[in-house]
Amino acid sequence: MSMFQLSSLFGSFFKKETSVLGIDIGSSTIKIVQIKKKRGRAVLETYGELALGPYASIEVGRAISLQSDKMIEAVKDILREAKTTTLACGTALPLSSSLITFVTVPPVPDKQLGEVVAIEARKYIPVPLNEVLLDWSIIPKEDVYVTDDDSSKTEKMGNDVLVVAIHNEYLNNYQTIMSGCSLNPSFYEIEIFSAIRAVMDQGLATNMIIDFGARSTKLYIVERGILRTAHIINKGSQDITLALSKALSVSVSEAESMKRLYGLKGGPEYKELTEIITVNLDYIFYEANATLLNYQKKHSKNISKVVLTGGGVLLKGFTDIAKISFQTDVVYADPFSKLETPAFLAEEFAQAGPEFAVAIGAALRRLGEIQ
Ligand SMILES: Nc1ncnc2c1ncn2[C@@H]1O[C@H](COP(=O)(O)OP(=O)(O)OP(=O)(O)O)[C@@H](O)[C@H]1O
Ligand SMILES: [Mg+2]
Repeated sequence: MSMFQLSSLFGSFFKKETSVLGIDIGSSTIKIVQIKKKRGRAVLETYGELALGPYASIEVGRAISLQSDKMIEAVKDILREAKTTTLACGTALPLSSSLITFVTVPPVPDKQLGEVVAIEARKYIPVPLNEVLLDWSIIPKEDVYVTDDDSSKTEKMGNDVLVVAIHNEYLNNYQTIMSGCSLNPSFYEIEIFSAIRAVMDQGLATNMIIDFGARSTKLYIVERGILRTAHIINKGSQDITLALSKALSVSVSEAESMKRLYGLKGGPEYKELTEIITVNLDYIFYEANATLLNYQKKHSKNISKVVLTGGGVLLKGFTDIAKISFQTDVVYADPFSKLETPAFLAEEFAQAGPEFAVAIGAALRRLGEIQ
């Protein structure tokens, strides 16, 4: 069973539809996109974003865990506002709802692989296995040029396997929200896999994806399109806002506005603002660099590009210091480039790209299910 078949457990009950939705419920905003297939291409139909704060009477930009009835209300609102016309969808789950590990399993016949993976995974999963949904996929061997002798040697070494466990509680909660909105997800997948699909080009390169969200920052290292490392830092863009509010004695909404308006480009009049933002970002860059350097050292691989996703990277001046921090190429994710979009809105899509990576990735997978 491959990573992208998490859906097989839920099944696809729906008849042929041409339009599909990708849904990303973040800690501070919901993002949705609707796409359809036309002449073999994925065409953008509509998209939208909605801040969740107001549903719990807190500021826009802050992370919040809403009760399911409030979440249902919010999802219904964004569907209405974006004028979506389908209920067929794929839904991303937050990385924080899952546990991702890499295990090495001894060489066994294919039939026994599932059993052996479960035994290995049990060592890393701190809850009983009957409380989680377990999925896994074998990481393909890198060296395809081995001779027969060598390949038998690799066989003996066993397989590296990526294991994903999602707690049933999270899934039940998402199912409640989806069915409360009459939405029909044919799959749930961890946001990482949606993001990878939406932002990676095909190729052999090793890249790092940073998702700078409101509550947390996610770091993924992807090699040949396959996830090799996932790391979560419990600090996000809302922490900049909260630090600004405190240090400058302004309300959280004011701090949020200043963060978005000036970012790191406020100039000399906003020296303190710049400093506070910088201190908060330093922590994240430090962690991200450690992850990157560790990986490079351990695997003797060069990470040739860092791809920026998540609303937090829209901060003015973010790429400048990212480029200084990472001694490698740094680019904004451009997931809209995987879709056919109206040319006159190109700038808007370039700007919104980092935020919509997860939603677009989920929609692309759902679209792929249509024959
Ligand atoms: N123009 C901007 N400048 C600076 N920060 C911004 C800008 N636009 C959005 N943000 C910040 O980005 C964050 C939201 O990003 P995103 O929508 O990716 O988060 P999320 O998916 O809700 O969070 P998470 O992934 O942590 O659950 C907010 O904290 C917001 O303040
Ligand atoms: Mg997010």
